[in-house]
Amino acid sequence: MKEDLFSLPGGKIQGAIFDLDGVLVDTAKYHYLAWKRLARELGFDFREEDNERLKGVSRMRSLEILLETGRCKMNGAEKTEAAAKKNNWYVEYLRTLDESALLPGAREFLERLKAEGIKTALGSASKNAPLILERLGIGGLFNAVIDGNRVSRAKPDPEVFLKGAEALHLAPRVCVVFEDALAGVEAARAGGMRVIALGKPDLLPGADRYISSLKDML
Ligand code: BG6
Ligand code: MG
Repeated sequence: MKEDLFSLPGGKIQGAIFDLDGVLVDTAKYHYLAWKRLARELGFDFREEDNERLKGVSRMRSLEILLETGRCKMNGAEKTEAAAKKNNWYVEYLRTLDESALLPGAREFLERLKAEGIKTALGSASKNAPLILERLGIGGLFNAVIDGNRVSRAKPDPEVFLKGAEALHLAPRVCVVFEDALAGVEAARAGGMRVIALGKPDLLPGADRYISSLKDML
């Protein structure tokens, strides 16, 4: 393994944990289309800039933010029904997904890590992660997959990443997390991991390094 593969201070990295949506695959637009459709049904408009607040956030919390935006109130049962409806539309979009939705450098970087003997895990809030990995054909590039079906506390709680490190049999301090959302950067930090953010310091403060896509890692 090359010492400079990650260009990070603080010692050798032995494991890389990846967020899914916005890091490996461009699913944000499908989440957006499905939430927008729900908003339209509820009688308000949901704009792309409002969608920024939903990145990295769990499905239920996303619904609550959407309802806040439209000044809409729902009881528990209505929320469950609305979230399920949004998810059905989202899953319809996911069924059209193929390898072309992989973000630049994603497959190449995962393959390189495998070749260099760095362990890899997925650390995603999404309950749809298994379907997405299958559509993209990259499931085999991970040593462990921790997704929204296996965690009870949403980012910025570090649970998803700590479970990822544990599944790789690695200490958090030798792991690096790749994230595109503030909640995820905070979760990685809270878990004692280094973090490489896909984005800019003003929107994602606290990361150890900033890149614009995984292509920058090649
Ligand atoms: C995160 C996305 O990865 O997963 C969020 O950034 C999304 O936008 C969350 O709400 C939960 O995803 P899902 O697929 O379980 O609804
Ligand atoms: Mg993300």
